[in-house]
Amino acid sequence: MSVSPQVGWPTFHHAEITPRTAPVGTAAHPLPVIIDSDPGLDDALAIACAVVAPELKLLAVTSVGGNADVHHCTENALRLLELYGAPDVPVAEGAVGPLAGPLERATEVHGEGGLGNTNLPKAARKAEPEGAVALMARLLTESSEPVALIPIGPLTNIALLIRSFPHLAPKISHICLMGGSVGEGNSSASAEFNIYADPTAAEIVFNSGLPITMIGLDVTHHAVLDRTILDRLLQLPGKSAKVAAELLKFSFDRSAAWGQGERMAIHDAVAVLHLASPDLVGVARYRVVVDATAGPARGRTIGDASPYRLKRDKLETNCDVGLTIDSTRFANAIVDVFAKLP
Ligand code: BDR
Ligand code: CA
Repeated sequence: MSVSPQVGWPTFHHAEITPRTAPVGTAAHPLPVIIDSDPGLDDALAIACAVVAPELKLLAVTSVGGNADVHHCTENALRLLELYGAPDVPVAEGAVGPLAGPLERATEVHGEGGLGNTNLPKAARKAEPEGAVALMARLLTESSEPVALIPIGPLTNIALLIRSFPHLAPKISHICLMGGSVGEGNSSASAEFNIYADPTAAEIVFNSGLPITMIGLDVTHHAVLDRTILDRLLQLPGKSAKVAAELLKFSFDRSAAWGQGERMAIHDAVAVLHLASPDLVGVARYRVVVDATAGPARGRTIGDASPYRLKRDKLETNCDVGLTIDSTRFANAIVDVFAKLP
């Protein structure tokens, strides 16, 4: 099936939607996952999805500096898990900044502390002292089955894990990451934020040979919520839903202030939901190469799905790229998640 032109990403080559390679969890056999995150407004919603989904077993949340400083991100992860009634999911702090290049933050979008102007109560516990990469390595080692990684921030911790513990590669079932774009970027015209914030790490991940799904802006800009979601969330009884409404309101206000309309793409939740649903997201096979140079295309994920070029140059595809999503189903899934949380 050809992707319909209404998807409208700026390329003349319309890749074919292909069967997914990412595993999918079921309620009978939940998929073990680790989220690596920089919470972050949309990260907060993504973590909620992973806590609730019966198809997923959330083993840990690790933090990385990205949307805000890593200490804020760690504390946000701890506080969110407590709010969501999941205080036993371990949290560990990861990299402060990228493997190479300048420190990038997105506080103009997510607020100085990462969660807009929401102040959640201080968490009763602290992060695991072993740190993000060691915790991931330990959980992979201890798990009886391979674990899927869901990186929804810069890829620094994941690159360090791959480089430090190469023997654990067979224990990683999939890397379903939010980042990149075959089309336009958001941090720059070329690059999406998570890749732009650490292109060196992204290059290591995309060149690793591990099975990858790139949930990039091509699909996440069809996973958009607007103000109509607020009433739906505010009608729900739980505190988590009220907090989600507050986070989203902050996003809509910021987005409007930046001249982008009162709407927000909930990027990170798409990566989580892809592993919980067999058919929410449509993907195509691409060869993705990261530009880690210092020029105007720094952080760009160059996606090639041209059968002609790949054959001519004897190149293999290296990931699924998310291209389509049922937007209504996505919005309903978010409401359903918060209906189930305290
Ligand atoms: C990504 O960048 C961050 O600001 C969001 O949390 C998301 O992970 C979108 O480009
Ligand atoms: Ca994020």
